[in-house]
Amino acid sequence: MAAQGRGTGGLADPADDAAAYRAAREVPREGLGAWREAVAEEAGLRPGMTVLDVGAGTGGFATAFREWFGVDVLAVEPSAAMRALIPADDGITVLEGRAEALPVGDGCADAAWFGSVVHHIEDLVAAARETRRALRPGAPVLIRNVFPGRAERDLRLRFFPETADSVAYYPPVEHVVTVFTAAGFHRTALRTLPQESAPTLAAYADGLRRGTDSKLRSLSDAAYARGLDRLRAAAAADPTEKAVSWMDLLVLRADG
Ligand SMILES: C[S@@+](CC[C@H](N)C(=O)[O-])C[C@H]1O[C@@H](n2cnc3c(N)ncnc32)[C@H](O)[C@@H]1O
Repeated sequence: MAAQGRGTGGLADPADDAAAYRAAREVPREGLGAWREAVAEEAGLRPGMTVLDVGAGTGGFATAFREWFGVDVLAVEPSAAMRALIPADDGITVLEGRAEALPVGDGCADAAWFGSVVHHIEDLVAAARETRRALRPGAPVLIRNVFPGRAERDLRLRFFPETADSVAYYPPVEHVVTVFTAAGFHRTALRTLPQESAPTLAAYADGLRRGTDSKLRSLSDAAYARGLDRLRAAAAADPTEKAVSWMDLLVLRADG
């Protein structure tokens, strides 16, 4: 994961960090219905196809894709602690590597998935070139991310508005499209989709782990405390409100 921030939310041990990431950041499968539907529509994944999961983290989406679509997954992840938690099975191959130098053969995959990772990639130009190399002609790259100027309905921005300061440095949609277009892709869709992060705002607040989230880590302790107060107040005002957060799905397709 990215380096620790200036607040006190960081975790010292990478293994603790990865376990906390899984507990706090993996969205429960039942909260991802809209994402399952959108990926099905955009990528047409079928059993026997191969999906390249770039920056797979603890494998939440690798296992979801396997369960939803019966695909084989190549899960590429640079962090040993995160990789150790990916449930490898005969359909999920776990690989050490980075987006900029993918440890896979040419034209080996039918789709690529970047889940909350483009803002972590140091050399996006190399990553786009590598993704094009790894994909078959016509294959989609599916980018799930928060983008600057489009994140108002993300729960973290709603309750911790200062997180917008770090999102402002994320690559904007237009930049990602330009970089991938230069590498041999064309843009086909940009959709904003909901996920149910927890059944209530109170449960969402209980599950927050600041050290697992680069946006929350970037806050001062005072800003984080103010955000938690806002969140707890909203949870008390409407104990039935579900914790629904929205993110973008940007889809590009390999030329040819
Ligand atoms: C916020 S996590 C997202 C994990 C997973 N995709 C998900 O949606 O739960 C970002 C992941 O990107 C990985 N990462 C950071 N730099 C990377 C790079 N250059 N190439 C590939 N993955 C990278 C981190 O180790 C981390 O596991």
